[in-house]
Amino acid sequence: MPTICYGDVSVTLNESETVLEALIRAGINTPHSCRVGACHSCLVRAVSGSPPPASQKGLKASLVQKGYFLACTAQLEADLVVGPAAADDVSVSGRILTVESLSKTVFLVRVQLNGSFEFKAGQFINLVRSDGLVRSYSVASLPNGQGQIELHVREIPGGRMSGWLCRGEALGASIEVRGPAGDCFYLGYADENLLLVGAGTGLAPLLGISRDAIRAGHQGRLVVYHGGLDERGLYLTDELRRLDDTHDFLTYEPCVLRGDAKPGLHVGPIDQIVLDQHSELADWRIYLCGDPDLVLGLRKKLYLAGANLSRIHADAFLSAPS
Ligand SMILES: Cc1cc2nc3c(=O)[nH]c(=O)nc-3n(C[C@H](O)[C@H](O)[C@H](O)COP(=O)(O)OP(=O)(O)OC[C@H]3O[C@@H](n4cnc5c(N)ncnc54)[C@H](O)[C@@H]3O)c2cc1C
Ligand code: FES
Repeated sequence: MPTICYGDVSVTLNESETVLEALIRAGINTPHSCRVGACHSCLVRAVSGSPPPASQKGLKASLVQKGYFLACTAQLEADLVVGPAAADDVSVSGRILTVESLSKTVFLVRVQLNGSFEFKAGQFINLVRSDGLVRSYSVASLPNGQGQIELHVREIPGGRMSGWLCRGEALGASIEVRGPAGDCFYLGYADENLLLVGAGTGLAPLLGISRDAIRAGHQGRLVVYHGGLDERGLYLTDELRRLDDTHDFLTYEPCVLRGDAKPGLHVGPIDQIVLDQHSELADWRIYLCGDPDLVLGLRKKLYLAGANLSRIHADAFLSAPS
C-alpha cells in the first residue's frame, strides 16, 4: 500500500483509506469539515509525487499547478510527500468586523480582510479560527474595494463555529479566510435567463449573484426562489421586494412550507413550486444553494424536467459529520 510522508511522520494507507483519514490516524492535525470534497477545508499540498486528478477537481488552476489537492477525496496508488497549505497561496488574514441579526436565527457577519482577496459574489470561503476549526460560508456581497465581505450565518444549536459567530463572541476576533471556491457566481452572459433557488442561508450566494447581475446590467430574466419552513424562516424580504420593484428583469418568489397563502407568498414544497412554474428549462442557467437534500434532489428533478446539467450550478451546504 502507498505511504504518505508528512514532515518526519510516515504513514502507510490502509485499504480504501483517504489521505485525510490516514493523516488523522497518524495524529496530524489537518483542518477538515465535510469529508466529501464540498468544502475545500482539507486542502493540502503534494511536495513530491502526483496527487490523483480526482482530488483536484474544482480547484483553481494556480493551486493545481502547485500540487494542491483535497485530502478527503484522495485515494493513492503511489507514495506521496504531503505538506500543509502555505498561507500565502490560499489565505488572507482578517477580523470579524460586525455581527447583525437578519432574523431570529440568521446573522449578517461582516469580515474585514487585511490583504487583497479576489472573489466573485456567490462563491464560498472558509473561515479558519485560531484553534484550527474551519467552516465554509458563501459570500453575499460584491467586492467593495474596502476589503470587506458579508456572510449570512445560521446559528445551529450546539454549532461550534456558527454559535461563536452568531452569539457575538467572535466580534473583533482575528480569523483566517481561505478560498474562494465554488462555481455559484454570475458568469456575465447578460441575455441568459437565470433561475436561482435556495432555502435558509442558501439565500446568501443567490443574493450575491443577483447583486452582480444588477451591477452588470443583466438583460435576461432572473428569478429568485427563497424558501423557509414558515415566514420566520425568510429574511431580507424587504430588500428582495425592493430589488423586484426596481429591476424589471428580476422577480422575487418567497416560498414557505407551512402557513396561509397570501398574495406574493407561495405555500408548499419549494421544489414543486419551481417545477410547476418552469416547464421550458433547457436554456436556463440554474443556481441551487443551501440545504443538501433540496439542492441534490432538485438538481435531479430539474434535469429530468429538461434542464441542461452543464448549466446547473450547485453548492450544497454540507455540514461536518457529528
Ligand atoms: C460550500 C458550503 C457553503 C456553506 N455556506 C453557508 C452559509 O452561507 N451560511 C451558513 O449558515 N452555513 C453555510 N454552510 C454550512 C457551514 O459551513 C457549517 O456547516 C455550519 O455553520 C455549521 O457549523 P458549526 O461549526 O456551527 O456546527 P458543528 O459544530 O459542525 O455541528 C454541530 C451539530 O449541528 C449539526 N449541524 C451542523 N449543520 C447543521 C445544519 N445545517 N442543520 C442541522 N444540524 C446541523 C451537526 O451535525 C452537529 O451535530 C456551508 C457549507 C458548505 C459546504
Ligand atoms: S472538501 Fe475535504 S473536508 Fe470538505
